[in-house]
Formats: sequence, structure tokens, C-alpha cells
Amino acid sequence: MILAPSILAADLSRLADELHAVERGGASVVHVDVMDGRFVPNISLGPVIVGAVRRSCTLPPDVHLMIEDADRYLDAFVDAGAASISVHVEAMPHLQRAVAHLRSRGVRPGVALNPSTPLSTLEEILPEVDFVLVMSVNPGFSFQKFLPATLDKIRRLHREIAERGLPAKVQVDGGVTVDNIRSLVQAGVEIVVAGAASFGGGDPEAATRALLRAASA
Ligand code: DX5
Ligand code: ZN
Repeated sequence: MILAPSILAADLSRLADELHAVERGGASVVHVDVMDGRFVPNISLGPVIVGAVRRSCTLPPDVHLMIEDADRYLDAFVDAGAASISVHVEAMPHLQRAVAHLRSRGVRPGVALNPSTPLSTLEEILPEVDFVLVMSVNPGFSFQKFLPATLDKIRRLHREIAERGLPAKVQVDGGVTVDNIRSLVQAGVEIVVAGAASFGGGDPEAATRALLRAASA
């Protein structure tokens, strides 16, 4: 299992320290949430921060684009050092083109689904992606509560991927805690994003360890 702390919940005035702490705790990826105030009701981080993450630690940046018109910005995030990038199916009329473009640029492509977006929207794109990000809160903010219906959605997605013999991994994002991480892994999640649970308690190294321990307990 890959743990991806979300720096949206970190103290950005101490970004490098926060990153080093989760790195010591065993995280393997850094999740960077990009919001434009249009697709979601918040404005957050951009390519400049992806570059700062790259320079601050050895963990690869995983960029989650919650923006309209993402096609216009893909290259900027690739150039800034993104290792993987997910785009939302709800915001992308030409999803296949974006996924193929990311792959051509050497970045792992993923697609993201809002809680109310059905798995059926993935039917055609699923063979082309490295991962599917299943939102377990409505995107826009850290520190929200996990939506329980996500668990069954993840089980169904995991089953479909297995039945079709595809390589896509399942990523979950939103409201993950030490109390629900085990059930998410059992449902088929391989990449876990955690914002509040990583950075919210003041000791990100210990929090990261606790999440990894809980995931395999
Ligand atoms: C929400 C973001 C998440 C968020 C997760 O829109 O996509 O990545 O930072 O934070 P927690 O784990 O606190 O829900
Ligand atoms: Zn995210």
C-alpha cells in the first residue's frame, strides 16, 4: 500500500519540515491538491508548489487536478515535476486525449471521480489509466468526514478492474483515518491519500507511522 499525505492539510510555512516528517514516517508519495475556485469552491496550490515539493524531498509528487480546462495546464505540472497526475472525469470532455498526453510525457495518468459520479463513466477509459482516484468526500477541503457509501463503490471498482484483467490501481481520497484505513485496503485500495490524518495532529511522522500500522493491522 502506498500512503500519500496531502499537503493541503500541512503547515505550508514549514513545507520542507512537514515533508521530511512524513518521509521519515514511511510515506511514499506526496499528494498535491490543485483547485481553481470554479470546479471546486476553494483555491489552493499550483505548479510552483509542485516544484517546491520536488526540491524539498525525495517523494514523488502526485498531482490531483480539481480544475476546469485542465488540458491547458497539464504541461506546466509535468514540467514542474509531477510523477502522477489525476484529472476529474466531470471536468474533461476529452478525457482520453488528456490521459494519452500525460502518458506520452512520461507521467502516470489517473482519473478522479466525485462521490456522486458513477463507475460506469470509466468504462472506456479504464484500460488506459494507471489509477482511479475515488473521492470519499466532496472535493474542495481537507478535514471533511468520510462518506461511507464509498466503501462499496471501491469494492465494485476493484472487482471490475480484476474481472477485466486491467493494471489500474484504486486510490482513495478524503476523510481517511486510522479507524477506516484498514477497511479501505481490504476493499481494494492500493493508494491512500490522507490530509488531516497525516498533518492535523501536530506530529506528522508519528501520524504517518500510525496510518501505515493501522492499514496492515
Ligand atoms: C479534497 C482533497 C483531498 C484532501 C484530503 O478535495 O482532494 O486530497 O486534502 O484531506 P483529508 O484527508 O483531510 O480529507
Ligand atoms: Zn486530493
